[in-house]
Amino acid sequence: MSAELSLRETYTEVGDAPSTYTNGQIEIRGLHKTYETKNKSFTALENIDLNIKENEFLTIIGPSGCGKSTLLRIVAGLDEATGGELTLDNEPIVGPGAERGMVFQGYTLFPWLTVRENIEYGPKLKGIPTLERRGISNRFLKIIRLESFAKSYPKELSGGMKQRVAIARALANQPKVLLMDEPFGALDAQTKLEMQEMLLDVWEREKTTVLFITHDIDEAIFLSQRIVVMGANPGRILKQFEVKLPEKRTANIREHRAFLELKHEIVGLLQH
Ligand SMILES: Nc1ncnc2c1ncn2[C@@H]1O[C@H](COP(=O)(O)OP(=O)(O)O)[C@@H](O)[C@H]1O
Ligand SMILES: [Mg+2]
Repeated sequence: MSAELSLRETYTEVGDAPSTYTNGQIEIRGLHKTYETKNKSFTALENIDLNIKENEFLTIIGPSGCGKSTLLRIVAGLDEATGGELTLDNEPIVGPGAERGMVFQGYTLFPWLTVRENIEYGPKLKGIPTLERRGISNRFLKIIRLESFAKSYPKELSGGMKQRVAIARALANQPKVLLMDEPFGALDAQTKLEMQEMLLDVWEREKTTVLFITHDIDEAIFLSQRIVVMGANPGRILKQFEVKLPEKRTANIREHRAFLELKHEIVGLLQH
């Protein structure tokens, strides 16, 4: 294991790692996005440089309109950059792919499918046989603690439960990267805290890279290993912070001195 890790590091350092040596590593270099409307052009993203390590939990925070969703959509392959380079495990990103799972704020479950069928949707498309699919959905139903709702339809679930299913559905495809755009933005405060803990639990188990977007500073600090603060007009990176908190996050970490200091610093940055 350690030999394998050191080999990976060596390859990463020289910068020409074959894709088999990284797993969910995103490199963004000099990324630009300009929207052309009738008689003017608008720079949504200007010169974004960002490397996201494999299995890293990285959060982007910034004011409304600074280009967070645009950046995530480009990484998802749903939108195209107008300049710069973008790779996943050293392969250029040229469109959507199963190795990148997405969870949005809006509930995106299929209303005509049960919870189990929603989770099995991706594996079914891939042609995974019924029994194996059953194993996958059982596992995720357990992780999101909704075993007793396997046969329920989305309309019978609360907002938090629907988002848990959306996360399970994304993970059932075994993505290398999970892209999350304000996934808990519509939930009440208590549910949001529960979802954050569940997400960290899932992240530790599944070892995916997570690129998370929020405008909630507490959420960003609680979840992340690293926080990237963006500014608007044009959308750009203002500053990055390593979150120097214990790996194991518990509710009371929010009173931790390092937590409060980092929060203070980010609030100051966003007020400018
Ligand atoms: N399809 C589009 N055409 C023109 N402008 C757009 C389009 N999509 C987004 N924008 C503009 O780009 C900026 C960034 O949008 P967005 O990425 O949604 O910001 P955020 O997610 O940070 O709130 C906004 O000013 C928005 O109006
Ligand atoms: Mg947005």
